[in-house]
Amino acid sequence: MPFSVSNARHFRGELRVPGDKSISHRALILGAIAEGEQIVDGLAKSADIETTARCLRALGVTITESEGGRVNVRGGGVVTGATLDAGNSGTTARLLCGLVAGLGASCTIDGDVSLRERPMRRVTNPLARMGADIDTNENGGLPIHIKAAPLRGIRYELPVASAQVKSALLIAGLFASGETTVVEPVPTRDHTERMLTAMGTEVRRHGRAVSIQGGQRPRGVHITVPGDFSSAAFFIAAAAGVPGSRITVRGCGVNPTRTGMLDIITEMGCRVETVNKRDAFGNAGGEPVADVVIYESSLRAITIDDPVRIAAVIDEIPVLAVLATRAAGTTMIRSAGELRVKESDRIKATAENLRILGADVEEFDDGLAVSGPVQLRGGNVSSFGDHRMAMAMAVAGLFGEGETVIDDATAVDISYPGFFDDLKTLSD
Ligand code: S3P
Repeated sequence: MPFSVSNARHFRGELRVPGDKSISHRALILGAIAEGEQIVDGLAKSADIETTARCLRALGVTITESEGGRVNVRGGGVVTGATLDAGNSGTTARLLCGLVAGLGASCTIDGDVSLRERPMRRVTNPLARMGADIDTNENGGLPIHIKAAPLRGIRYELPVASAQVKSALLIAGLFASGETTVVEPVPTRDHTERMLTAMGTEVRRHGRAVSIQGGQRPRGVHITVPGDFSSAAFFIAAAAGVPGSRITVRGCGVNPTRTGMLDIITEMGCRVETVNKRDAFGNAGGEPVADVVIYESSLRAITIDDPVRIAAVIDEIPVLAVLATRAAGTTMIRSAGELRVKESDRIKATAENLRILGADVEEFDDGLAVSGPVQLRGGNVSSFGDHRMAMAMAVAGLFGEGETVIDDATAVDISYPGFFDDLKTLSD
């Protein structure tokens, strides 16, 4: 279904965004292998998280929801022989490779047309080195077939920065003999490490290396999922760019491996406040959460080409490119080639859409250059079936003169089913 967005005069107010998608996947998956019950409050209610829950149930895990939205997870006897449909969710497919290999269940992991196109050897290769009997299709994608086999710990240097692959190997490492060490080229989101630690598991970090000793069993705990920074990012960008705006995102996750966008927009000249900082798990070192306040500001272009910075802003680049149309000068985003293998080719999709709306954009293999300030105009753009592209284009619609129509806008349901309602509430 298409959705249309018009120019906003102001973007003001406060909101809470849905629970963090990355943390929600992990709360369910790690709950599935825990001793005792995992209790989860604030779990994201979105298509990707329902996908993970469905796959876990097919493996024999009990997941129940009570009236207040609290979710209880309890592992069971492992069901083998299932086909797990990971839908559109790369995190589900890749983390489940680690889980299924670890549990010694034989099964098939498949997904939708978009997910079938995404690279999976990055996770199956190291798992095979650990001893897993695991195969992709001939193109290195889904479906993946896994058969029961014992695992041994390895030391593995990740060729690409990926929290999904790191997490899959750490989960498999819990079931392997000896120690598993994953060396990251740059730090990526560390939700798995934090949650495993909160669940009483010992995870050690030395510089870029993360190690876990096999044979440990995490214990079920009470997890409160913070708001998803990557969902808040669309409102943050809207407030930074619509004249006279100010918004507060309450209870927003501010894990430093995720909030690169706040540093970037601060450097672009935006006024950002992070107040009322606390810990979502109730213990320091859990997941930091805060209220994030953004004031519209006059913006200048910057260059973002450091792989460390790119990793901390990886899911926010499309909306940053939209915001860059408001900044004076040329914003350069490089070292971001991974964007080509997300839910869509986000470099191509962002460039094509922004050009339709009148932006001055140059596309590179590994990024984009956006020159501004440019007054965007309305137009017909596509989500490319990608939730974050649909939401980024909605922000472009708030900046644009006239009406912006986003094709296949229901893609937002992947992470944020109420997105357009919240957008309407804050804009006038
Ligand atoms: C995620 C890791 C990132 C990110 C994705 C969620 C995760 O993917 O883009 O939206 O939950 O671990 P990669 O691991 O492919 O970088």
